[in-house]
Amino acid sequence: MPKDSGTHGARALVTGAGGGLGRQIAIDLAMRGVDVAVADLNEKGVDETIALCASSKARLLPVIGDLTADDGPENAVRKVVGAWGGLDILVNNAGYGGIERFLEMTAGLWDRTLAVNVKALALMTAAAGRVMAEQKSGRIVNITSPASRMALPNYTAYAASKAAVDSITRSAAITLAPLGVTVNSVAPGMMDTEMQRSTEAVLARLEGRNDVDAFLDERTRRVPIGRRAEITEVSATVIWLALDAPAYITAERLNASGGLDRD
Ligand SMILES: NC(=O)c1ccc[n+]([C@@H]2O[C@H](COP(=O)([O-])OP(=O)(O)OC[C@H]3O[C@@H](n4cnc5c(N)ncnc54)[C@H](O)[C@@H]3O)[C@@H](O)[C@H]2O)c1
Repeated sequence: MPKDSGTHGARALVTGAGGGLGRQIAIDLAMRGVDVAVADLNEKGVDETIALCASSKARLLPVIGDLTADDGPENAVRKVVGAWGGLDILVNNAGYGGIERFLEMTAGLWDRTLAVNVKALALMTAAAGRVMAEQKSGRIVNITSPASRMALPNYTAYAASKAAVDSITRSAAITLAPLGVTVNSVAPGMMDTEMQRSTEAVLARLEGRNDVDAFLDERTRRVPIGRRAEITEVSATVIWLALDAPAYITAERLNASGGLDRD
């Protein structure tokens, strides 16, 4: 973050910004005057996100690539620093989740889930953390999930991966606290995104439910606030941590889950 309270001129990198929550975060940062590097493996999605930011005054930088590739995180950070000379905000949003029964779990699902949600996020945090430590300023926001604290027998790899995100957030926050960099996380409630739609469709099948709409309604009713999260509400939470929260807040896990997660 620039030392003053303004946001113009801050430089952000948002992973998984080719769609869903990441796209909304990129748009909201750009509308606040923050330059945004839009990172995703989905090139078309990145182009669409950049087009949606066109009315902002922010600079936009496409960062296309698979963050699980060797040097993927390092290359993404290097590209931003090469273009803009530094990095003030990292939002680790890219994620993957797959449904399978506990007793039928597969190595493939574990590998993909841990590679995206854990390994890439940790390496992104370290790569960005090195740049921010040098600058003596920066903010990192990781996207976790209420799943990290729930018993989810059909979603075990995802839930475990998000518990790892919580752990990495703590380690990174303690490492970077003396260096002027904060590290926090946001736990979003159920949002209507591509990930959520495909996950719940498979979950319904696995639970033998043909009445998918009724199944979704039941799940929504379990949210204490009585509805699903708007992507904009979750994005606003991320933006607050990235731009507006006091610099003394670090190692925090902020719930934007309508009461689903209440610690
Ligand atoms: N949707 C929900 O209800 C919900 C709830 C809690 C937490 N979350 C978390 O929010 C974050 C965003 O989820 P979403 O619902 O917007 O998902 P999404 O699937 O709509 O978007 C995720 C984006 O990440 C990108 N991505 C995936 N793997 C990548 C990789 N290896 N390299 C680069 N990009 C990659 C995808 O291309 C996609 O654009 C995730 O971390 C997810 O776990 C979502």
